Amino acid sequence: MDDTSKQLLVKGLTSFPKYLPTWYNYDELGSELEDKCTVDNTGYYLRRSQISILETSIQKIIPSVPYDFALVDLGSGSCSKTRYFLDEMLLRQKRLMFYPVDISGEFLMKTVEQISNEYGERLSITPVAANYENGIEQLRYEDGPKVILWFGSIINLSYDDQVDKLKLISSLMTEKCHLVFSVDITQDKKAVLRAYNDDAGLEKKFFQNGIVRLNKEEESQIHLDQFQYKVDFISDSSPEHMSYFRAYLQAKEHLRYKIPGLNLDIEFEKGEPLYLHEGVGLSCKYTREQIQNLTARAGLLLTDTWTDEKRHAMFCRCKVMDPDQSVQQHEESSSV
Ligand SMILES: C[S@@+](CC[C@H](N)C(=O)[O-])C[C@H]1O[C@@H](n2cnc3c(N)ncnc32)[C@H](O)[C@@H]1O
Repeated sequence: MDDTSKQLLVKGLTSFPKYLPTWYNYDELGSELEDKCTVDNTGYYLRRSQISILETSIQKIIPSVPYDFALVDLGSGSCSKTRYFLDEMLLRQKRLMFYPVDISGEFLMKTVEQISNEYGERLSITPVAANYENGIEQLRYEDGPKVILWFGSIINLSYDDQVDKLKLISSLMTEKCHLVFSVDITQDKKAVLRAYNDDAGLEKKFFQNGIVRLNKEEESQIHLDQFQYKVDFISDSSPEHMSYFRAYLQAKEHLRYKIPGLNLDIEFEKGEPLYLHEGVGLSCKYTREQIQNLTARAGLLLTDTWTDEKRHAMFCRCKVMDPDQSVQQHEESSSV
């Protein structure tokens, strides 16, 4: 892991309250665990809702235009939803340039090998093993029309980071580009807590993977049985916020650990939490108004949305605004 990423870990573990950033869960094991959660956890509604939208609406979600697109997938994971885009775009165009970007490099390369075998030569894949910032920098030379996907990932960032990342993505976009991202619009506390705290403990295993990784890569010996896994849902419908889920480990007693790889000694008071994400929460849940405000803040125009029958998931398609639209839309969304 590079020095900047290590510094981010140290920052989290020495903050008050302490936290481990969510991106740290995603080594190869973490990516596999998350993939397993979304498929095997029967209470995890989001994937099923997303798939149902893609099955009914993929032809509309990809805009009909008289030119070819390249496809960028930020935080591509196993590309299970991306395949709907690959299939439909390859019906419309002879060749497709595909840029999957993911911080989990080994998992990315495995996924790319599978996809490359399945789709053959009409799909030209350039994998980008990087975080969003570095990945987007590497894609700046690709200046043609693009559909940019960002699934399941925006919801794990803090509000300011969501705005910043959307701004960064918009800096890659011309008027012939579209961003498609998906969000969770569920506001039912019971359904959310059931989804992220399943009886089989699949989600817990994924959320705790950051600790397993610290022990493996940074030579600490943090015992998970000295903590209790806790979850919570905070509802917030104010226009410039969103509801969110919290996951944390609570120290059962006073604890001290050395983390040699980070050159760090950490101490927990009895009852002290270690959040398993940066910022106030993760897996954010939005109202439509909140999404509109979020995209407007990032200089994006929300052009279309699709939801499933159960109203769990929403796919959002955006374009870049011209500066006049930007002022107008912000005024409109502030006055709702
Ligand atoms: C919630 S999963 C979504 C995977 C896939 N897009 C889907 O919808 O099934 C988040 C993905 O983003 C990747 N990821 C998380 N943080 C990232 C970051 N800072 N930069 C790049 N990729 C990141 C993870 O490795 C993971 O594959």
